[in-house]
Amino acid sequence: MATPDPNSHKSHGSVLVEQAANLTAACVQWSRSDFEDPARQVAVRDEIAAGARRILLETATPTELMWSQLVNLYALISLRTLSQHGVLQALSSEKGISAEELAEATGMEVSLIRRLLRPLTATQFLSQGVESGLYHHTKASQAFCVAPELHVMLDVLSEHTLLSLGCLPEYLAERKSASEPQDQAYNPYTWSRGQDGTSVWQVMAENGELARFQAGLNPGNKEVFKPTGFFDFGALAEGDDARDRAILVDVGGGIGAILTSIIEETPALQAVASRCVLQDIACPIDQARSGGKLPVGVQTMVHNFFQEQPVKGPKAYYLRRILHDYSDAKCVEILSYLTKSAAADTKILISEVVDPLTNNESDIPMVCTDVIMLNIGGKERSEEQFGEILKAAGLELVKVWRGPSDCLIEARLAVKNNVA
Ligand SMILES: C[S@@+](CC[C@H](N)C(=O)[O-])C[C@H]1O[C@@H](n2cnc3c(N)ncnc32)[C@H](O)[C@@H]1O
Repeated sequence: MATPDPNSHKSHGSVLVEQAANLTAACVQWSRSDFEDPARQVAVRDEIAAGARRILLETATPTELMWSQLVNLYALISLRTLSQHGVLQALSSEKGISAEELAEATGMEVSLIRRLLRPLTATQFLSQGVESGLYHHTKASQAFCVAPELHVMLDVLSEHTLLSLGCLPEYLAERKSASEPQDQAYNPYTWSRGQDGTSVWQVMAENGELARFQAGLNPGNKEVFKPTGFFDFGALAEGDDARDRAILVDVGGGIGAILTSIIEETPALQAVASRCVLQDIACPIDQARSGGKLPVGVQTMVHNFFQEQPVKGPKAYYLRRILHDYSDAKCVEILSYLTKSAAADTKILISEVVDPLTNNESDIPMVCTDVIMLNIGGKERSEEQFGEILKAAGLELVKVWRGPSDCLIEARLAVKNNVA
């Protein structure tokens, strides 16, 4: 057997040097620009992240690449476990802390702490003093302590990922399938919990996960989830409509965190908050009612979006992150109930990420949510795919408004429906 050449993974030096030069150029742009154009900022950041990744890939052996994939998974497991025991929260940003002190503060065994911290320090999520061995926060770990909803979201989503998506090959083998899951009641999530036949939302409500999930949806981290600022919600309040005409109906609006953001950031809506409606199933609506965070006057309503829409002819129906939970057929069903209750001038506003089909670093959140949706029988869609489901529901796409994280697809009744 031939002995492997230890240098066989080395790229041509010139390729590496060229990649490093491109990366340096992108970093210089980043440091010198004040980025009035957010799209340009995203593009430069994409160049930096992709360039750094390219260099890592260029210099690693295939075996090293395999370990780098694995360590990310193990870092995720460490992060969940250490946060659950309060270890992450016991770190201080200014002065470092030893594993013994972390054990003292949290009650977790010192040796377990040390071992779980390793994937996090090796991937630079946390830092460790070379001489002192003390652990320090980094910008990344600090963010988790500052934005607790990130914590909750990571916890809920990684639980889905690890428990069910982790067994996707076994799931498909058992079903003798090579197709994407399409059903909210028969998918890797319901299968992994032994609850095939019950919808994901029902399973989550029954096991207490739904309440945690709703807390994680809180848009406290507006840098990551920013549903406003690129569509004029204030214009919905214009015109001389009947005083009892609903203005904005948030269908499947959770505990109302997004509707609250929209109203708080739109002065014209604040005056008519009582004509805004939050709809969802019972558990989140109860949470919204008891949470006391909704703007005064906002109506709350338990409503199943697979049934007739009771609020007729509002200025707009708004659905954020609803359609990506479902197959095309189910999306058409949900939208058809809105078609039946819409007025000729009702706007159907669908807030989702729009899949650009080829992906950059900045699309990573969307890439992840698409995989998470695969777990529950849903999917992220391209503009063309949205056009198709809208058409099948008797609607037509008017415009795609693009924001930093979300897009807003504006639709209306298709012309033939308007005439009828
Ligand atoms: C991904 S969350 C999106 C929540 C909110 N729109 C947001 O963007 O934060 C999906 C929401 O749909 C709700 N939901 C699920 N099934 C529903 C149904 N049949 N009728 C109404 N709401 C439902 C869930 O409770 C959850 O709040």
